[in-house]
Amino acid sequence: MPDSRSPSGDIQQLQSAARKAAENAYAPYSGFRVGAALLFDDGFIATGCNVENVSYGLTICAERNALFNAVAQRGATHKIVAIAVTNLNAAPSPPCGACRQVLAEFIAPEAIISFPGDDRLEQRPFAEIFPFTFHLDPK
Ligand code: THU
Repeated sequence: MPDSRSPSGDIQQLQSAARKAAENAYAPYSGFRVGAALLFDDGFIATGCNVENVSYGLTICAERNALFNAVAQRGATHKIVAIAVTNLNAAPSPPCGACRQVLAEFIAPEAIISFPGDDRLEQRPFAEIFPFTFHLDPK
């Protein structure tokens, strides 16, 4: 049985990529520095950090920044199979609801999402943290 307190090699590698990305966070308003790393089904890893703005609502989260970065680099051709999120503030940071909705469009439901929880690194399948996804068949 995998133990959610000792992440496997893949998750560990993704967590360190997320941490590296968090070093680039631009968060002068909240001071909360977040990094995300997305692993795609062909092994490609995209990273992102949060970028805040003085007009607070224009801030982009690390997770969406990583996703948009991946699509900008090579289109939307591959599925995400794992995600690591971290922060430099030693605080819990699961992906926010807006990020879950956006990620839902590009991710396998069984993809493992790893993020700092209240007292340990959580690892949950995406379908567990975002059930009953809204779908719309494109015309
Ligand atoms: N933030 C993220 O980057 N990801 C999340 O899922 C939640 C929040 C950022 C946005 C903002 O810059 C800071 O954390 C505080 O909300």
